[in-house]
Amino acid sequence: MIRTVDYIDGRVVIIDQNRLPAELKMVEIEDYREVAEAIRTMKVRGAPALGVTAALGIALGARSIDAADFGSFYSELQNVAAEIRATRPTAVNLFWGVDRMMAAAERLQDRPVDEIKMELDRLARSMVEEDEDACRQLGRIGGELLSDGDSVLTHCNAGGLACVGYGTALGVIRGAIESGKKLRVYADETRPRLQGMRLTAWELAQDGVDVTIIADNMAGSLMRRGKIDACVVGADRIAANGDTANKIGTYTVAVLAKAHSIPIYVAAPTSTVDLTLASGDEILIEERSPEEMTHIEGCRIAPVGVPVLNPAFDVTPAELITAIVTERGIARAPYTESLARLRCIGTPLSRY
Ligand code: MRU
Repeated sequence: MIRTVDYIDGRVVIIDQNRLPAELKMVEIEDYREVAEAIRTMKVRGAPALGVTAALGIALGARSIDAADFGSFYSELQNVAAEIRATRPTAVNLFWGVDRMMAAAERLQDRPVDEIKMELDRLARSMVEEDEDACRQLGRIGGELLSDGDSVLTHCNAGGLACVGYGTALGVIRGAIESGKKLRVYADETRPRLQGMRLTAWELAQDGVDVTIIADNMAGSLMRRGKIDACVVGADRIAANGDTANKIGTYTVAVLAKAHSIPIYVAAPTSTVDLTLASGDEILIEERSPEEMTHIEGCRIAPVGVPVLNPAFDVTPAELITAIVTERGIARAPYTESLARLRCIGTPLSRY
């Protein structure tokens, strides 16, 4: 399986997700500014992939710094970090990736600068491996929640394309299938950027999974007709109380699932849990450009001059979530206790 994000010979290699499904194109990046640009323009997207890409961006930035002492090296590295942090605000994994690299640099401050650069390279590389392992582990754990013959609804893309590989929500689906269960997947198309139709349907079809695309407004009707047994979604940031930010429309799916007594599972690595935020009210929601709504492939589909809202994420309150699946186990309500027990971020980095 091709990795969505990788680090090969000092280059960050990503799949350009804006070209899928028409073309599978890899992009090689040598400059941290191009990493920031790839994140901003969503060539690379999805919370865990953003965490790893951000860390790799720091490694590239570190390589490019010409400094003889730690003080000047670290001050330039802070500029690199600031540029990467400023790309997208909601997925906490991005900040987790940057913070982990910056904390490592600080810990190594007594070493020669060249050695620090090498260590940062090594750490970023290990985060690529870690992410894939976490998804597989999460998939094995979460796969148990699904039954043979289930029809599963997912929203946006929380698949291999949103991580280094394998996926979180799609990791749970893959885990269930690998354990011998037969599943049918419904992929919400996920307006406005269509990650469900363009990416989820593409990657599941590549794997031979039985996947059907639906428009976002069809989910309720399918549930009412008894066609959905479970919903599995990813997350961009989970607050300490379990409130979960994910792609806009996830809240709608959760409300519909509740109304039809269908379980909804959130699947995410512990790097997506932000114990520093008490509730979802504190999560900053990214507002993206109106053109994502008003244009498709450069062609205007909305009347000129009418205002448009385009929040990229919404927050699903914890009480609507059946369980949160992580690589360290399954958290259930009350989430404040169960998530804290899983030792998520917000605890000192040295514990990882
Ligand atoms: O705007 P995107 O495409 O980065 O949003 C992605 C999502 O909302 C995913 O569901 C989330 O990041 C989880 S990915 C495993």
